[in-house]
Amino acid sequence: MTAPANGAPLRTRGSREWLDLFRANEEPEDLPEGGPRLSGEERASVVRSVQEFQLGENSEGKHLHRLAGDHAEKTGDGDYLLVIEYFIREEQRHARYLKHFLVSEGFGTVKGSWADAVFRRLRRLANLEVSVGVLVTAEIIAKVYYAALEGATRSPTLRAICERVQRDEKMHVQFQAERLAILRRDRSLPGMVLTRLLHRALFCGACLVVWRNHGEAVRRGGLRFRAYWRRCWDEFGAARRAMEPAAYTDL
Ligand SMILES: [Fe+2]
Ligand SMILES: [Fe+2]
Repeated sequence: MTAPANGAPLRTRGSREWLDLFRANEEPEDLPEGGPRLSGEERASVVRSVQEFQLGENSEGKHLHRLAGDHAEKTGDGDYLLVIEYFIREEQRHARYLKHFLVSEGFGTVKGSWADAVFRRLRRLANLEVSVGVLVTAEIIAKVYYAALEGATRSPTLRAICERVQRDEKMHVQFQAERLAILRRDRSLPGMVLTRLLHRALFCGACLVVWRNHGEAVRRGGLRFRAYWRRCWDEFGAARRAMEPAAYTDL
């Protein structure tokens, strides 16, 4: 559940409700074909960036699946594992959308990048909380990135992909934030202070890396660094409250 700006108490949705939401969201949309293709300038600004995001979206999610399975077994929340399976499939669908777009423009996908390798390494080193924390960090920034990318192109296919992914990522951020609150519910106050600090540091670093690697595409979408930075932190602020156990009446 998104943290309302007025600070009203939240209630967890729980895995059963999330499962229904992910199931309802499962139907892949047909992407619009035709219309203007990428201009030469657009190509220069966005293709490499889209290739790297495609790589990031494309994961088998084996490590997350194993962590979620352990968590489901430990807590008796078997539906959580099912929701994670839907979630992984949804991310793979994002990767397929982007691959389809790249191929339709005559480009291929890429096999690796240093930023993607760091991101994957961080998640693989981690327990469920850290893994979900790293994921949600990327998804919060992805909301800003895809909104900018949508503004960076006249391609109807790419614009439709950006809209669809933004909608999905909004739900993903809510889902992951709620799980973080559940995982942190027994944490002491000093522990929560440290958790918040570490998450802010991670978010800060991730925002800078995304700007370094994708700033050209984001700028083309109309966001200079200051506006990008502000939007990222606005999104982070909106999601942050939903990561706090104290914000919920039922935790
Ligand atoms: Fe995604
Ligand atoms: Fe996502």
